[in-house]
Amino acid sequence: MLDLEGTTLSHYHLQHSLGRGGMSEVYLATDQRSQQEVAIKLVNSGHMEYSERFQREVKTISALAHRHILPALDHGQHGSWHYLVMPYVKQGTLRERLAKSPLTLEEAGEVLEQVVDALQFAHDHGIIHRDIKPSNILMQDEHHAYLADFGLAKTLWAEGENEITQTGYVIGTPEYMAPELVEQPANTSSDIYALGILLYEMLTGRTPFKGSTPIATCWKQLREQPTSPSILNPAIPRPVERVILHALEKDPRWRFPSARALLQSYKRSLRAAEQPETILVSLAASDQLDIPPLHAVTPQRANGIFNSRKLIAVPAILLLLLSLSLSLGFYAASITAQKTPAAWSASVPLLGEKDIQRKQQSSHCTEDACGLECQCTASRGERHTAQTTKLSRRKLI
Ligand SMILES: Nc1ncnc2c1ncn2[C@@H]1O[C@H](COP(=O)(O)OP(=O)(O)O)[C@@H](O)[C@H]1O
Ligand SMILES: [Mg+2]
Repeated sequence: MLDLEGTTLSHYHLQHSLGRGGMSEVYLATDQRSQQEVAIKLVNSGHMEYSERFQREVKTISALAHRHILPALDHGQHGSWHYLVMPYVKQGTLRERLAKSPLTLEEAGEVLEQVVDALQFAHDHGIIHRDIKPSNILMQDEHHAYLADFGLAKTLWAEGENEITQTGYVIGTPEYMAPELVEQPANTSSDIYALGILLYEMLTGRTPFKGSTPIATCWKQLREQPTSPSILNPAIPRPVERVILHALEKDPRWRFPSARALLQSYKRSLRAAEQPETILVSLAASDQLDIPPLHAVTPQRANGIFNSRKLIAVPAILLLLLSLSLSLGFYAASITAQKTPAAWSASVPLLGEKDIQRKQQSSHCTEDACGLECQCTASRGERHTAQTTKLSRRKLI
């Protein structure tokens, strides 16, 4: 705590601390000229690195006027302090909101849309944020979010040290840092990864990777697969889960090509999830998501596959109907022959939730990813046993 309550800086009278970040403290203050309440961010001007970040933040937000980017009202230096004056955002941070409970799919969609709007705008201007996380998202009210804290932002073409420096110092917040940052500088794709973590956290209430030290967390980002979000929150539908996991691909080439593409897929996944879960409908819905199977194809190849989908739709439906009738025949025959579900379990190797979890952790083949893969192979005229198993399991449940 800087303990500056009650003091006056320039014409700003400091009331009380609103929060503290990596390099600054933010106070609620009264602008004595306008009598408006404002938030004022104070950074020690004697600290070289913080001073640089402060200047960078002022420069960046002055260049990015957007309704979901928190603007600067004023800035300057007073004594040993740099100060940045911003509108006071009454409801605090998204982090404080998430401490109460995870968001619903719709609430998360609304925040995501506004943050993506802001981030895409920054990316389109060649600026990457590098510190997307709930404590840097401020909520004016339940329906208006601001992306804030551009203290780590940099231009795409800027040279500089990587996010994890030679001395092991981490620039950024490890829980939100993409795995490639251990050896590459940040780019738009690492911001998209952070958006994926944000979405995961909004819907489950926790981040997927957390170690006991910053480096341990980075190591998890690099080596571990996230627990499927729907295991933590069963209300998350399969198509939405696929969108989250796709944003969290370890290899940046497999992620969404832009923040906007992530948002569009999220919206489509919500629409797909609203449809009843019958075999035909779920196939059609996942086709609309335009997400390539996890780890299977590059975005370029995915485009080829999805552009040709109209050509393969008719034979795919015919094949599907054929496999459906075969499955039903098999089911009827087994019922007749063995009568009990236990006998079914013996004849069809079913996966329990624990097995699925273990399988996901060991191979990163999520049930959904596998489902999507099967749907793709099915649409090329092949049948996939895992999909058959999944369908069989649904019947038993
Ligand atoms: N405009 C604002 N209105 C209300 N609270 C704010 C505002 N700006 C920042 N804060 C609070 O201050 C904290 C730190 O601000 P931030 O800009 O993230 O600083 P840092 O660059 O040090 O991380 C935020 O997490 C939030 O709690
Ligand atoms: Mg911050």
